[in-house]
Amino acid sequence: RQRSDDDYDVLLKVVLIGDSGVGKTNCLSRFCRNEFQTNSKPTIGVEFATKQLTIDGDLVKCQIWDTAGQERYRAITNAYYRGAVGALLVYDVTRQKTFESIPRWLSELREHASADMVVMLVGNKTDLKDQREVAVEAGQEIAQREGLLFIETSALEGSNVDEAFSRVATEIH
Ligand code: GTP
Repeated sequence: RQRSDDDYDVLLKVVLIGDSGVGKTNCLSRFCRNEFQTNSKPTIGVEFATKQLTIDGDLVKCQIWDTAGQERYRAITNAYYRGAVGALLVYDVTRQKTFESIPRWLSELREHASADMVVMLVGNKTDLKDQREVAVEAGQEIAQREGLLFIETSALEGSNVDEAFSRVATEIH
């Protein structure tokens, strides 16, 4: 049977969170459009994009929401999290400070998101090997302690980006 763009079985809302500049927008554009921007500007307000995946024979429409990491550009938090069933909490493996912000993002999640939300911790920018400040083990450890899924990605190289989103979608579905 012919299927159109609006002919999906399930709609999953997934939100991106994490400090400014960690690569949230580029993870979204890599996953939804297979695009990467070297000089992307900070996000202002909220954007979203969609991508369809087939999971267990069901056509799943993933609606991925992206907002500013910078506080002053962030949209109203409640609206952002409303209806979200998954989250990617992104940090930059080359900036320890973005890793240290994880507890703050987790408390925002606990405050605004539903308790059964699937959360994936994402260490992005693995292509910058010489600049790494956060060991993979450090990411694994906090993920295990906090009950999060964990993956490292490079939006630039496109490595593990699809896996990050599809593992979250599969876990929810
Ligand atoms: P805000 O919108 O301010 O919250 O930032 P963001 O988290 O959306 O970051 P964005 O995607 O705009 O990326 C910030 C910068 O990091 C840009 O210059 C990107 O080109 C770069 N960048 C993003 N992902 C990667 C990556 O995987 N590797 C490398 N080397 N650079 C990346």
